[in-house]
Amino acid sequence: MRDLGVYAEVRASETPAASFAGVRGIIISGGPSSVYDPGSPTVDREIFALGIPVLGICYGQQLMAYLLGGHVRKGDHGEYGLATAQLEPAGDAMFAGVGGEQQVWMSHRDVVDRVPEGFRAAGFTSTCEIAAMADARRNLYAVQYHLEVAHTPRGRQYLSNFVFDVCGCAKDWDPRNRLPVVEQEIRDCVGDRKVFFFVSGGVDSTVAFTLCTRALGAGRVRGVYVDTGLMRAGETDFVRRMGNLAIEDAAAQFLDALQGVTEPEEKRHIIGEEFVRVQERIIDERGLAGEDWILGQGTIYPDTIESGGTAKAALIKTHHNRVAGIQKLIECGRIVEPLKSFYKDEVREVGRELALSSELLDRHPFPGPGLAIRCLCSDRDAELTGTPDGVVIPVHSVGVQGDERSYAPVIVIDALEHGRATALINRLREVNRVIAPVALSERVLEMRVRASSLTAARISRLRNADAIVRRLSHESGYDHQVWQFPVILIPLGTADAPDSIVLRPIDSVDGMTAQSVTMPAELLDRMCAEVMQVEGIAGVFYDLTHKPPGTIEWE
Ligand code: XMP
Repeated sequence: MRDLGVYAEVRASETPAASFAGVRGIIISGGPSSVYDPGSPTVDREIFALGIPVLGICYGQQLMAYLLGGHVRKGDHGEYGLATAQLEPAGDAMFAGVGGEQQVWMSHRDVVDRVPEGFRAAGFTSTCEIAAMADARRNLYAVQYHLEVAHTPRGRQYLSNFVFDVCGCAKDWDPRNRLPVVEQEIRDCVGDRKVFFFVSGGVDSTVAFTLCTRALGAGRVRGVYVDTGLMRAGETDFVRRMGNLAIEDAAAQFLDALQGVTEPEEKRHIIGEEFVRVQERIIDERGLAGEDWILGQGTIYPDTIESGGTAKAALIKTHHNRVAGIQKLIECGRIVEPLKSFYKDEVREVGRELALSSELLDRHPFPGPGLAIRCLCSDRDAELTGTPDGVVIPVHSVGVQGDERSYAPVIVIDALEHGRATALINRLREVNRVIAPVALSERVLEMRVRASSLTAARISRLRNADAIVRRLSHESGYDHQVWQFPVILIPLGTADAPDSIVLRPIDSVDGMTAQSVTMPAELLDRMCAEVMQVEGIAGVFYDLTHKPPGTIEWE
């Protein structure tokens, strides 16, 4: 809706009808439940009698039918993925210009098999007899397919019909116009206190920090950046150039704590714990717990939704571990979150309006634990195994097979063939990732895995290779063609050069699923040539695994 230029908010499904006064339209979203499940989400039935247009999507259609006296049939297997729908527009504003046969995206089990009184069945697919329904007199509409996904090409037209022609909304939303309002909200919230931020160098915390600085003046805003020693080349300088920031060098502390550790989950845990320690020390030493300070955070709208802003969404993601000191500030309301009603793309718009560089705003995501989770370790020396399918390397990387995270070995095939890699991984149970060599100093079978942990030398090796890949991606514009491009160090090599590099360029929309993508051959050649010059590197490999089954990161 906001992308169409109309302000919209996410509300809990059980919101009482009385609190919708002044609202121009309501959309009931999809969801994984059946209306017959105990405790499944419902809506206040009175919303259908408010005279406000309502659009139900997927579960929203089933719920609307169920609550208004139609019938929902429990499905056994359901319908998932692409389908062809036939839609009869019948003169409703809602379906104008979207009638006829069309591709849609389905994801449902139950189906509506009788529409409520006053409705007409408006569309069907081969397995779903009521794929759309309408009661134009009451302005109630619903579709079984998902309008909000790219795989329903006319979805945006439906949504535009609903919001402009059915609800009569005008374009009133442009995040850039909100800046004066947000700045006033910051001043109202902060009062005569000062604000401190833990800045990560990422988009959200930087935009929030900049907004506060603009609203309150640099003298009343302090940013602290923790250098963990696990960041990429140039990162601390990049953050320093943002100005007005204190840099806390905690590299030795992190490296000490990680010494000799090889187990991925343990690495993550230790890094989380050290973050807590450093942040508590900073709050303590710099007197930030005093009454005259409040905490600034770059929380954005989806964070609020996912961490329980609406009751039903609480299941999506568990809370991050919070530092006790920070938790206390939050509990007593000493926190300012200027971006909490914005989506990510809107934060970027705001950032552009604040004249932040596109170098910052268009950055690829980078994981909080940094290079540590891209620097694989091994607790022992180990031999490779030649099989008819390829060479199995006893380096365990993480994957998502089924609903579980799995740690499994990697297989090397001899050519950059995505189709073969996918077929292989579906067939082999014991591996969860397929890579292919693109530059080698020695035949793969001559290499071995060596016992190795997170040392300063290995992190520096990875940092150097990563810097090369980033520079060449940037110079060629390839970084704009991929969603993320992790570079991973694995303890596979020769006596002289103990490690290898894996390139993992991927395409994605939200990081939940991802596709391994190909790369221009010339660029790949240049990358390999330069990376092979890095001290200690025996080979360069290319990750051919999609997500699922392989996660984007290797740990
Ligand atoms: P996976 O590896 O789960 O990654 O496919 C999905 C996205 O999340 C990022 N990621 C992280 N980001 N802290 C973060 O801030 C983490 O611990 C972390 N682990 C994964 C990853 O880079 C990708 O964009």
